[in-house]
Amino acid sequence: MKQQIYWDKKQIAQNYDFGRPLSNRSILELFATISAKLSISLNNKKMLDAGCGTGRVTISLAQSCPSLSIIGIDISPEMLAFAQQKIKQSHLKNYQLIKADLQHIPLDDNTVDFSLISSVLHVIPGWTQIIDELIRVTSTSGYLLLISEQADIYEIEQDRTKSQDRNLLEKFWGQFQKLKLEYGLSIPQKIQVGIRWQLGCPEIIDYLQKTGYQNINTITIPWQHKYTVADFMNILYKKCWSALFTSDPIKYDQVLKKMEQWLKQEKISRDEEYISDNKICCEIVKLSP
Ligand SMILES: C[S@@+](CC[C@H](N)C(=O)[O-])C[C@H]1O[C@@H](n2cnc3c(N)ncnc32)[C@H](O)[C@@H]1O
Repeated sequence: MKQQIYWDKKQIAQNYDFGRPLSNRSILELFATISAKLSISLNNKKMLDAGCGTGRVTISLAQSCPSLSIIGIDISPEMLAFAQQKIKQSHLKNYQLIKADLQHIPLDDNTVDFSLISSVLHVIPGWTQIIDELIRVTSTSGYLLLISEQADIYEIEQDRTKSQDRNLLEKFWGQFQKLKLEYGLSIPQKIQVGIRWQLGCPEIIDYLQKTGYQNINTITIPWQHKYTVADFMNILYKKCWSALFTSDPIKYDQVLKKMEQWLKQEKISRDEEYISDNKICCEIVKLSP
């Protein structure tokens, strides 16, 4: 049976950064490590953020490195509107946004020094065409930066159903999953239509290696994020993850009411905290032989 999706794109865009937090510290540490590894300064370089969304990954980089020009391209006007708001609030002069489809990037060949792509290719079936486009617009002496992320909170949402004697993360998301099953809500697998969501982009690396790009370096930065139970509930109320839109809205509301009752029964305070272990990873692909 075809899975129905009740998207609200504005709501996804509005709540995207809350549901997918990234610390500025981890972003800046990642780019400082990339720069050191390549012995290249980012000053006066051009970077493409392909599928930039709300600018979650590159806006703080643009703030910390004003001579780096960033071009953010995305197909979604809703996501771009939030990126634009952040750019305006931060008075950034070095960040330009373009609405376009990455399958046909509106840039000339060899335009940028770095092409970055983060958490995009799992939503696009024809992802190899996008990699080819990124290679085309990047200077032959430039680099592809393939960013991937992992966090225990993203892992747990996928397939846990048990809910006893475990840590807060496992208990909370286990209960949510149990209620979803009870209410016959679908488990969202179909959102992923491109590559597998995985740290280290193995499918892209495989494709690039077969295409002849062998010079690849990996950098992984571990970091932590503090969630409260109130944050977990907010993720559910705000439907911060697109996968939460695969549920019938009426049944979804009933599940949330049951979650509230369960928190009371279990005497779980909304202030209770969980520190999640996160990783941000970058595969640096050198394009020249
Ligand atoms: C999961 S979000 C990732 C956003 C951002 N890169 C980040 O890491 O926060 C995926 C983004 O890819 C964009 N996208 C999906 N298909 C696209 C396409 N064909 N061309 C351009 N952008 C696309 C979506 O609009 C969305 O903003």
